[in-house]
Amino acid sequence: MRKFVILTCVLLALFGCKQQEQTSEASETSFSYHKIDPHSYARQDQVQVKHAVLDLEVDFQKEQLIGSIQLYFDNFSDADTLYLDTKELEIKAVSISEDGKSLKKTPYFEGKKDEILGTSLAVLITPATQYVQIEYATDPRAEALQWLEPNLTAGKKHPFLLTQSQAINARTWVPIQDSPGIRFTYEAKIKIPAELLAVMSASNPVEKNAEGIYTFEMKQPIPAYLMALAVGDLTFKSIGARTGIYADPIIIDKAAYEFGEMEQMLELAEGIYGPYRWERYDVIVLPPSFPFGGMENPRITFATPTILAGDRSLISLIAHEMAHSWSGNLVTNATWDDFWLNEGFTVYFEYRIMEALKGRAYSEMLAQLSYQDLLSEVADLDAKDTHLKLKLLNRHPDDGMTSIAYDKGYYLLRLIEETVGRERFDVFLKNYFAENAFKTMDTETFLERLDKSLLSENPAWKDSIRINEWVYGPGVPDNISIADPERFAQVDAARESWTSGSKAKDLATEEWSTHQWLHFIRTLPEAVSSAQLAELDGAFQLTQSTNAEIQCAWYKRAVEAGYSEAYGAMEEFLIAVGRRKFLMPLYRAMKENGQGELACTIYAKARPNYHPISYNSVDELLRCQ
Ligand code: BES
Ligand code: ZN
Repeated sequence: MRKFVILTCVLLALFGCKQQEQTSEASETSFSYHKIDPHSYARQDQVQVKHAVLDLEVDFQKEQLIGSIQLYFDNFSDADTLYLDTKELEIKAVSISEDGKSLKKTPYFEGKKDEILGTSLAVLITPATQYVQIEYATDPRAEALQWLEPNLTAGKKHPFLLTQSQAINARTWVPIQDSPGIRFTYEAKIKIPAELLAVMSASNPVEKNAEGIYTFEMKQPIPAYLMALAVGDLTFKSIGARTGIYADPIIIDKAAYEFGEMEQMLELAEGIYGPYRWERYDVIVLPPSFPFGGMENPRITFATPTILAGDRSLISLIAHEMAHSWSGNLVTNATWDDFWLNEGFTVYFEYRIMEALKGRAYSEMLAQLSYQDLLSEVADLDAKDTHLKLKLLNRHPDDGMTSIAYDKGYYLLRLIEETVGRERFDVFLKNYFAENAFKTMDTETFLERLDKSLLSENPAWKDSIRINEWVYGPGVPDNISIADPERFAQVDAARESWTSGSKAKDLATEEWSTHQWLHFIRTLPEAVSSAQLAELDGAFQLTQSTNAEIQCAWYKRAVEAGYSEAYGAMEEFLIAVGRRKFLMPLYRAMKENGQGELACTIYAKARPNYHPISYNSVDELLRCQ
């Protein structure tokens, strides 16, 4: 069938050709020809993009990125076609250059649209092709992009644009081989309104210029899911020699205080797993509609402002995104089925950084909260989705974004550490990062390596870890080593004293940290009544908390207990914050506790403020009219 399409297009070659493949080929075989990564149309065994040059203009009126990309690639199989991933892109022209300078139009074909994967773009190339150039524009509804009106920013004067490419959204703003297994360097020229500043996952400007034209370079090869762009009224403040913050001028000082320990964290991280390979580590604090807590875009972590608690109590999120500079960005999961190699390792490394910064008593609280997340996730998920190694064929990779990859992954690594000893495990991991730097890793290769260079030393280790059960089996194996922090024992004692009759105001909570409060709220008896919550609220003003983690945990309990005094504050929270991790539990709690109507009323007001990633998830959950 493909031959036929190509033949017709030869006639059109002079003009280029845009032709829909009208056969069912794409859908019938769409998974068989990309054996390596089921979520990409790229045939990475034939051709791999090595370098991309972007030239885009950011049009806030049209809510579009408009411009071009040049793709340089390695064609190691003399392939006549370069297959790219796209979704909702308007492809205007496709050319090739055979001399590195002049361009000529080349035929291209857009496949049938798949709801999850988007559309394959097949570009005809010749043996002499040096690069492909594609002129295109994004769709205003592109899933990676959020266009914010000024009132949704801290300063409320200027619009804002942010991207979120992971897992498979890069293809909604760049035609690219959108697979974590393909790495390339990139440069970019981005034109924006002159009163704004642009940053990318690349070398970044520290001040605005009068023309509104910025150039970027990412010299280290990265996969497409780490391409990122943010545009807004941003200012920069340095924290240390290699670290700094980008944020709206209104919140820059608050952010600089909150993340004041960043330089130290980076040094501690290097002390554990070796040199930081990306030169700078900056953080951009985004508007509250950012759908995630953090995103590890290389050189510049994208972060939610909901971690600006004022007391540095939520900075483990920065440790997490920083840790991805090793696990994920340096050694990358080969496919989204291996997602735990990114996230489980990162949670493990996150807690190691926090332990180095704040002590073991602190990091053990994080680990215990992880365990609680893991248990509740396992209770909710189908058993087959609780394996570390996932099977996401024909599913959206976001289905794998559960506590399993994060917390079950963490607990496996914790078990290995405790079994072989921290010193040995650290040597192993340091070598693992060094030897696989800028490469991909799949679960099987990791297990082989673990076996060869660590576990084979002592057969008893293997027997006691039972790694296949962890990786290919369901639920939580019974050899898990659960964190049991002393600081939570104090909380448990207070809760028990309260449930057996003490007054809330008499509990010794003065010294409690955010994590202790979270533990307290989460472990309140299931049948806690609205009147009991009112008593706690009277003593501790939890409804009025300005700590987003505490707010989310508390409002959830309020909905479960029917404590309606908290609903007004919850509504404000849901309108202001678009972080999916907070939205889903709260809307779900309303839906499951007879407050479906309230959920839809709040959602009607809040939805315009959310990123497509968040509203797609909430739409599906609530199905409001
Ligand atoms: N890389 C993830 C975010 C992500 C994963 C986005 C998969 C899209 C698809 C990031 O590192 C992350 O895990 N963020 C967490 C915070 C972390 C402290 C657990 C988040 O956003 O909540
Ligand atoms: Zn992560």
